[in-house]
Amino acid sequence: VIGICNTWSELTPCNGHFRELAEHVKKGIYEAGGFPVEFPVMSLGETLIRPTAMLYRNLASMDVEESIRSNQMDRVVLLCGCDKTTPSLLMGACSVDLPTIVVSGGPMLNGKYKGKDIGISDVWKYSEKNRAGKLADEEFVSIENMMCRSIGHCSVMGTASTMACMVESLGVSLSGNAAIPAVDSRRKILAHYSGQRIVNMVKEQLTLSKVLTREAFENAIKVNAAIGGSTNFIIHLTAIANRIGVPVDLEDFDRLSQDIPLLLNLAPSGKYMMEDFYYAGGLPYIIKEILPQLHKNIITVSGYTVAEQVADAECWDKDVMTKANEPLSTLPSVVVVKG
Ligand code: FES
Repeated sequence: VIGICNTWSELTPCNGHFRELAEHVKKGIYEAGGFPVEFPVMSLGETLIRPTAMLYRNLASMDVEESIRSNQMDRVVLLCGCDKTTPSLLMGACSVDLPTIVVSGGPMLNGKYKGKDIGISDVWKYSEKNRAGKLADEEFVSIENMMCRSIGHCSVMGTASTMACMVESLGVSLSGNAAIPAVDSRRKILAHYSGQRIVNMVKEQLTLSKVLTREAFENAIKVNAAIGGSTNFIIHLTAIANRIGVPVDLEDFDRLSQDIPLLLNLAPSGKYMMEDFYYAGGLPYIIKEILPQLHKNIITVSGYTVAEQVADAECWDKDVMTKANEPLSTLPSVVVVKG
């Protein structure tokens, strides 16, 4: 009996396609001989919840934990998308510690405005121009309409994209999960495969605590440095580590990020969006490039090691992702400042 923990809600547009995504997970589960049961949990959407969805992350994690624990299920698939839906679901699942796979919802397509790519972080620039009287209201509304062209989470390397990369680098999702756009057919295929895989995890009994080891957290911290992920990563990874009982402190983020080159050129600090990241090869290539600095022989939910999963990874666009020996920056992208 496989639970599918769903954060679909019309109040969370980033996760608005999750009912359809859940159907693809179910097909994979049935195909492999399992019995899926889908259940809803509190959905935290950044676009509408005020003052901030962060106030409810822990509440949502309790909902997830008790829904899993109090119902009769053997394993769980977590459908995560908008920022806090990923850490809250993973935290709740960690407290129960069943075999678990995460399926992220995927980023929205690039925004397009007058031939240029735009993302959600551009809204601040244009809203300030509008407030200063340098951009007409009609133009501003039209930019807004061109910014979010599809379902999916924010297309820049903000918190949601960082969280999708986090679950892949922790080894709790299938390889390639992070960057496939929400509307790309391959997102559905990944959901289908994840459904098959969660049933076939019977032999290994790969509970979360077997995957989420200290080494897995160290890998995630290093990968986050290589992609220039959001600093919210620190808050959420620490909370997940505490739930599974692995010691991770602030010093770890500083120390482990020191020698990791920045390899990904994504907004808001860089140029491209998540859609470009996927077409360029996605997270498997980044992991492959910094493999010598990772714990490469630890197991992931796929049943393969970190190194095995990325053996065939390639880069198709050297402007989006660089080689480890030709980094965008050698300065650490995460530094802990005191005083
Ligand atoms: Fe949901 Fe940005 S508002 S990911």
